[in-house]
Amino acid sequence: MAFKQLVFSGVQPTGNLHLGNYLGAIVKFVELQKHFECIYCVVDLHAITTWQDPEELPKAIREVTAAFIACGIDPKKHIVFNQSQVAEHAELAWVFNCVARMGWLNRMTQFKEKAGKDRENVSVGLFAYPTLMAADILVYRATHVPVGEDQKQHLELSRDIAQKFNNDYSASIAKHGFGDAFFPQPEPLIQGPATRVMSLRDGSKKMSKSDASDYSRINLTDDADTIAQKIRKAKTDPEPLPSEEKGLETRPEADNLVGIYAALKDTTKADVLREFGGAQFSTFKSSLVDLSVAKLGPIGGEMKRLVADPAYIDAVLADGSNRAREIAAKTMLSVKDIIGLVRR
Ligand code: AMP
Ligand code: TRP
Repeated sequence: MAFKQLVFSGVQPTGNLHLGNYLGAIVKFVELQKHFECIYCVVDLHAITTWQDPEELPKAIREVTAAFIACGIDPKKHIVFNQSQVAEHAELAWVFNCVARMGWLNRMTQFKEKAGKDRENVSVGLFAYPTLMAADILVYRATHVPVGEDQKQHLELSRDIAQKFNNDYSASIAKHGFGDAFFPQPEPLIQGPATRVMSLRDGSKKMSKSDASDYSRINLTDDADTIAQKIRKAKTDPEPLPSEEKGLETRPEADNLVGIYAALKDTTKADVLREFGGAQFSTFKSSLVDLSVAKLGPIGGEMKRLVADPAYIDAVLADGSNRAREIAAKTMLSVKDIIGLVRR
């Protein structure tokens, strides 16, 4: 069965949005608007899998929304909303909790990393997180999902859940006129030179919202001086830059900075090395500062302007939620019919 092409992705409202979120995800969101219908979601129900301060959470939800708009997402042409305003996400997640297997979730590396040694004490929600993510995507029967490299395993799980649902209920799916599959197999879109942006302090660690050192990341709201300082202090090695990509293989910090430069300039690492091969880091870093400030400066400014008007942001989210709910509610009625739940 052919499914209508539709893009869905989500970003959690936890902590500061950084260059990794921007290059790994949001830049792609903006690009995909040209060719697809898109739904972009602030996944607040995912955020509360770890405790969030009720004073801070609404600010974080509005800030991610502001970032989407400031980066160039058009909330009129496409849909921008926060997850908790469309109850069908949580409803379908329950169904998926009954489709997914314990063994599948036990293999999730993000859960293992986040739970660490404290497995007995983390929330049930943190464990079930990927079934909610599958519901986010599949409640719209979305076909394409732009994400950073770290979400690849969760996307594979979403595909497994879609497939198992289609198999478990195949007779009922056919009987209700949906052919041989009710859910599509959502395809991850993980491409380009910055699918995994690393910490500026340690090339073996992912750039993350939760790193204790603010010098490990560039936040979308950092001003020009802060960006410059963070890049100048970024860890490097003593060698000049290589002329070819092969020369980056054993140099994670150099590889990371070259990847960032390439992604910001919308080109390839090979191209960047053609320009900077043989150059010292001091030279390369000043060009990287100029490029970063030119690209990120206006975004940070626009975000600040937007968050100063929470009524506007809330109106965007309310409108997006209404449009999202219409699609999600329809899917949920069909899911109920397929499963055999009595409804009005
Ligand atoms: P999160 O903040 O965990 O909700 O992530 C939002 C999006 O940003 C997801 O698509 C992630 O895969 C992506 N992302 C987060 N951190 C990075 C990173 N360091 N490099 C590339 N993409 C990232
Ligand atoms: N788990 C994703 C992250 O941490 C966020 C997310 C939630 C998401 N639901 C999604 C991403 C659906 C893509 C599609 O980055």
